[in-house]
Amino acid sequence: MRVTVIGGNGQLGEDVAAAFRKEGDEVTALTHHDLEIASADSVRQTLETIRPEVVVNTAAFHNVEKCEADPARSFEVNATGARNLAQATRTLGARLFHISTDYVFNGLKRLPYTEDDAPMPLSVYGNSKLAGEYFVRTENPRHFVVRVSGLYGSHPCRAKGNLNFVELMLKLSRERDEIRVVDDERVTPTPTSEVAKQLVVLSRTVDYGLYHATAEGECSWYEFARAIFELSGSKVRLEAARPGEFPAKVARPKYSVLENAALKHKSRNIFAHWKQGLERYLLRDRQPSITHA
Ligand SMILES: NC(=O)c1ccc[n+]([C@@H]2O[C@H](COP(=O)([O-])OP(=O)(O)OC[C@H]3O[C@@H](n4cnc5c(N)ncnc54)[C@H](OP(=O)(O)O)[C@@H]3O)[C@@H](O)[C@H]2O)c1
Repeated sequence: MRVTVIGGNGQLGEDVAAAFRKEGDEVTALTHHDLEIASADSVRQTLETIRPEVVVNTAAFHNVEKCEADPARSFEVNATGARNLAQATRTLGARLFHISTDYVFNGLKRLPYTEDDAPMPLSVYGNSKLAGEYFVRTENPRHFVVRVSGLYGSHPCRAKGNLNFVELMLKLSRERDEIRVVDDERVTPTPTSEVAKQLVVLSRTVDYGLYHATAEGECSWYEFARAIFELSGSKVRLEAARPGEFPAKVARPKYSVLENAALKHKSRNIFAHWKQGLERYLLRDRQPSITHA
């Protein structure tokens, strides 16, 4: 298959490109330098030259604070950009994978969200990503809209200052005696390598639609930090932050655990428990370069 990965040098995009290559697919990984998804012309011209059969869009404007400060750019990239890709792929007869987020939910449910739950974003970022989902779903019937959550991987997240949560904790543990981490936000930290494998599995099907795609289980960021230090043998003192100790500048869901209901229904869920994913990352996937970023 000819596969084009957009955001090809991003945290997820790098792993997605590698996963498709491993299966023998012909992969073109495009960076922001190669195309601007907010520009319909840029998207059309670039994709017409490559003529991919599958496009995977991992690109987004996803620094939550920057999105809140610049709603226009947020919608340009996350909503209009998604629409541009959906229209161009439809014209080319290509299938589109579009990556979305757990932040389309407000977190009040307090139980894992399925694809059937009504979204209700709290932020500009969440609203712009939700608008992007709807554009993809209406503009290209051959779509996979895939919501992910709490990503970390062996390539730096470009939008978030390079260090993923695991690397940030390990860095702080070398620099400090005590670390305090929020305990009132529940998520499912998910390795990008597993998301990438899941996309490859879906790409071999015609099961188009909306998917939740995260690791199994759930934890607070404090519990995640505790597992990181246990598994890495760090002796740093870890404390749960008091509620309100680190006030968020932008409202975030307190509970954004996703249930991979659609994947499970189709017997296609490949995700391991988040603790197993973390173990694999710490023992196998981590690149030394990222620790010094
Ligand atoms: N990271 C998380 O924890 C998380 C959680 C939930 C959902 N997500 C979603 O997962 C996806 C991938 O995230 P990630 O962690 O891999 O992000 P990342 O490392 O920041 O990668 C994003 C990539 O997209 C490119 N890009 C940004 N704006 C673009 C534009 N207008 N046109 C073309 N390319 C553009 C970036 O290039 P430049 O850096 O050069 O601009 C970068 O290569 C995003 O859709 C995000 O919304 C992430």
